[in-house]
Amino acid sequence: MAGADLYGVMGSLRSVREFSDRPVSDEALRQILEMTIRAPNGGNSQSWRFLVLRDPKVRREVGRLYLEALLQQVEAATPDEVLARPGITRTLRDAVHLARHLGEAPPVQVLACIEKSGVSDPGSSIFPAVQNLMLAAWGLGLGTVLTTVWRHRDEEMRALLGVPDDIEMAALIPLGHPAKAYGPPKRRAIDDVVSYDRWSG
Ligand SMILES: Cc1cc2nc3c(=O)[nH]c(=O)nc-3n(C[C@H](O)[C@H](O)[C@H](O)COP(=O)(O)O)c2cc1C
Repeated sequence: MAGADLYGVMGSLRSVREFSDRPVSDEALRQILEMTIRAPNGGNSQSWRFLVLRDPKVRREVGRLYLEALLQQVEAATPDEVLARPGITRTLRDAVHLARHLGEAPPVQVLACIEKSGVSDPGSSIFPAVQNLMLAAWGLGLGTVLTTVWRHRDEEMRALLGVPDDIEMAALIPLGHPAKAYGPPKRRAIDDVVSYDRWSG
């Protein structure tokens, strides 16, 4: 196994919220999906389903719902109102950018879903696959971001995409070429979050 490569990809993975509209090749998409479905999952039931959205009209509609959902989440009427907030975090500013442009770029959105009755804890069985998808994409120089804020428009998304009620929609992952370079992720130090043998607060 190419351990160094794996660590390089894992160690640099970032949430990408600014995409170019450069197409994602069918081959790259296929490779990413191949890695996605290698993920661990409860009882190996593989109750996951992945809805790949490429039709511009569909993506635009998803983008519209996403923006509505984000504004609901942050209790604002318009994106500009959010951006004008004093002390707005970089993450929120970037999240607003994504919400504004999701309908145009990136060229692919993947909705990761799981059968509600397929496993006892559906969330635990879909997120390893989502992480695999993100790492596989990053390894090919493609960006992603795990999103759930659109769940404020869950019913509208379900109707738009024809997703049956027995399927849980877990995460929407925009997928495309990053429009800018991303530095390494900022994370708390290991010693702040890890203890050994007994909880140390
Ligand atoms: C469960 C979950 C839900 C998330 N939902 C959203 C979202 O709806 N929109 C968004 O822009 N980012 C979302 N994120 C991305 C996080 O904001 C991101 O992982 C975090 O800020 C770290 O970013 P970094 O990896 O670039 O350092 C979500 C992440 C997780 C794990």
